[in-house]
Amino acid sequence: MNILIVGSGAREHALAAALHRSPKRPKIFCCAVSMNPGIMQMAHQYWVGDITDVTAVSALAMQWKISLAIIGPEAPLEKGLADALWQNAVPTIGPKKKMAQIETSKAFARQLMESHDISGLPRFRAFESMNGVDEFLKELGDNNYVVKANGLMGGKGVKVAGDHLFSFEGAIAFCQEVLGKGQTFVIEEKLIGQEFSIMCFCDGEHIVPMPIVQDHKRAFVDDKGPNTGGMGSYSDVNHSLPFLEEWDVQKALEINDAVLCALTNEVKDKYIGILYGSFIATRQGVYVIEFNARFGDPEAMNVLSILDSDFVAICEAMVMGNLSADLVTFKHQATVCKYVVPNGYPDEPVERAPIDIAAVKNKACLYLSAVDQVDGKLLALGSRTAAYVGVGNSISEAEEISEKEVRGIGGDLFHREDIGTECLIQRRVDAMRKLRAP
Ligand code: GLY
Repeated sequence: MNILIVGSGAREHALAAALHRSPKRPKIFCCAVSMNPGIMQMAHQYWVGDITDVTAVSALAMQWKISLAIIGPEAPLEKGLADALWQNAVPTIGPKKKMAQIETSKAFARQLMESHDISGLPRFRAFESMNGVDEFLKELGDNNYVVKANGLMGGKGVKVAGDHLFSFEGAIAFCQEVLGKGQTFVIEEKLIGQEFSIMCFCDGEHIVPMPIVQDHKRAFVDDKGPNTGGMGSYSDVNHSLPFLEEWDVQKALEINDAVLCALTNEVKDKYIGILYGSFIATRQGVYVIEFNARFGDPEAMNVLSILDSDFVAICEAMVMGNLSADLVTFKHQATVCKYVVPNGYPDEPVERAPIDIAAVKNKACLYLSAVDQVDGKLLALGSRTAAYVGVGNSISEAEEISEKEVRGIGGDLFHREDIGTECLIQRRVDAMRKLRAP
């Protein structure tokens, strides 16, 4: 069986590793943005080019006689790669363009929730011009708003009052900047609480959740510094998180179900792929931050590292429409994923600096990302470099493993030492308890 992976970051390295472990022994093919030595080791054929070039990728899928494709990042989904692959009879994990709007258009996602009366929707308004912006910002109040570019902006499209925006004037200037880039935007009420991600496998009808994960967006220890693609993440033995109550999880799962149902009715098609709900537990209950139409990065590394069942069988069931919960089992173990990134990341990263992974003991849990291999030597390209996932019988045990291995990666790099530590987790639990206190 020939399986195509589209994308070449650590998430796609984890996808390749999960496929590679399958007893079905698939041949792995990859359409990549860059040479990822980790994926290349497992791949039968490897192409580097523009993965949003729908025609080129579809032609390769035909040439390689691909029987199943998995699209990693969001940009090819936005361009309609899933539509083109299905048209060429290539069953694909990743929703078609109209369905992918759940991620690629913030206004679409919010309006879908509103029109289908789905809970967890913060106060919001979608804007196509500056008309009414000032009034809505004032209605939400000082320090109580978030501005989100409507479309994909490579992680630079969301600014939060108090974190990135410090006055109405600053917010207005950002709205103007977004409009200047040809985008529209959404303004929402700011939510206070603890964020968590629930990714679900979907076959167009059935939805099966994966363990819950918490990502860390900020670059530096104690959630300081600029936003990044995600510096690391953890999951717990019971597949929930220490600061969540059972009813939070139930509510978030209900929201994912309701959104899938609304999308299916609205677009009149099947959502085949991963539906990723990004939630926040607040004093008032669970709210939706956003949806993604793909595996999270780094969240994919956490869950795929403890997937007990056959990933190929799950993918086949997704595209055949016969997915069921008994096909999907995860080990009851905790995971802590830590990314190493080049010094200066994300604003002014050192580029093409050598890295050395020789001291990493268990390389099966090391996922390479923006890394090139030149004359047998590894170079960190400038974006997130490599992620290590510690797996253990508690979050602390997983953290210790991850921290030790990550420290073994040599180079002009840094990582967040606090992700998954007892101290950080306790702070999250205490903050949530305080927020919910009567
Ligand atoms: N971890 C956030 C994302 O994948 O978008």
